[in-house]
Amino acid sequence: MSAERRQVNPGVPADKLPPVTDIDRAVQLLKAGRLVAFPTETVYGLGADATNPAAIERIYRTKGRPPTNPLIVHVPSIDAARRCVTDWPEIASRLAGHFWPGPLTIVLPKSPVIPDNATAGLKTVGLRVPNHPLALHLLRAFDGPLAAPSANRSTHVSPTTAQHVREEFPHPADEPALILDGGPCTIGIESTVLDLSTGTPTILRPGQIGPDQLEPLIGPVRQPAQTSTAATPATSPGQQEIHYAPRTKTFRFDTSQRGMILPDDNGIIVLSPLRIYKEWGSIIAMPNDPVEYAQHLYAVLRKLDLMNLQTIYIEMPPNQPQWAALRDRITRATRPLPKI
Ligand code: TXA
Ligand code: MG
Repeated sequence: MSAERRQVNPGVPADKLPPVTDIDRAVQLLKAGRLVAFPTETVYGLGADATNPAAIERIYRTKGRPPTNPLIVHVPSIDAARRCVTDWPEIASRLAGHFWPGPLTIVLPKSPVIPDNATAGLKTVGLRVPNHPLALHLLRAFDGPLAAPSANRSTHVSPTTAQHVREEFPHPADEPALILDGGPCTIGIESTVLDLSTGTPTILRPGQIGPDQLEPLIGPVRQPAQTSTAATPATSPGQQEIHYAPRTKTFRFDTSQRGMILPDDNGIIVLSPLRIYKEWGSIIAMPNDPVEYAQHLYAVLRKLDLMNLQTIYIEMPPNQPQWAALRDRITRATRPLPKI
């Protein structure tokens, strides 16, 4: 078996790859228009042939995703990305050369290879090369672009393990037809989405790669206000107010609101990035480092959601650039603490 595995991708240690038969089966299913969940370094994706409108439609149906929310298209290389767009500016080469494979999605004018329903009717497409051996292996074997949103039901918490994907879609006879297990995701939150299709490059969704890393390479980057509310329509499709959310009632609070949390409220759990409040009952202390915090956030939210708690309270991490992506996700997963 290991000889067979090595033959498929000499660049990756044999014990890091699933049996060849799993990749073969995945490719067959994808070619037939079915869905295959696969790991990336950010979160697990729910993959479909990005050139097949019926397969794309199946993603929206399976996730219960609004048709207005465009999908990210995954490719194995810069060359493959260029085939999906009509224009490949020089800054795209610079970014892709520096950050791919990695957690950066770039938005560019789409070519007709990508059907309209993959991009929710937009004239642009979001593209990235994921940095995970299994994802790259699958993309090379499939030899075409794969549309892959996070492998969760719409608005729910994104999955960072294969088990999370199974929990989202518990019926084996339904989609996804196959879940490839590549272990826990190393980054844990979704890629940075950077729009290159308009004047100034604009961050549509913050992620681990922030302006501090982008600007030295491409100059000024715009980062619009983070979250849209019901009253102000989304600046980017899919940037709804409540997203990435547990099913349990979940509030966020600032450190200054500590006094508003009642320790005897049934089932309080507080996630605290920087401090532990010893006087409170049930507390989960999150890592102080944003990279480590991101690795654990979704797994912790999922675990809490299974505990039948009355309420989850999450302390907002500091309002500093290195926490921007996590503040964005926590804001979308929660409601503000009600005024009392
Ligand atoms: O890390 C990730 O990006 C993961 C893994 C699986 O690669 N994928 C992911 O996909 O998060 P999804 O479908 O959950 O996120 C898609 C989001 C959209 O909601 C929108 O914010 C942005 O990416 N997006 C995609 N295409 C776009 C486009 N053409 N124009 C503007 N925003 C776009
Ligand atoms: Mg998602």
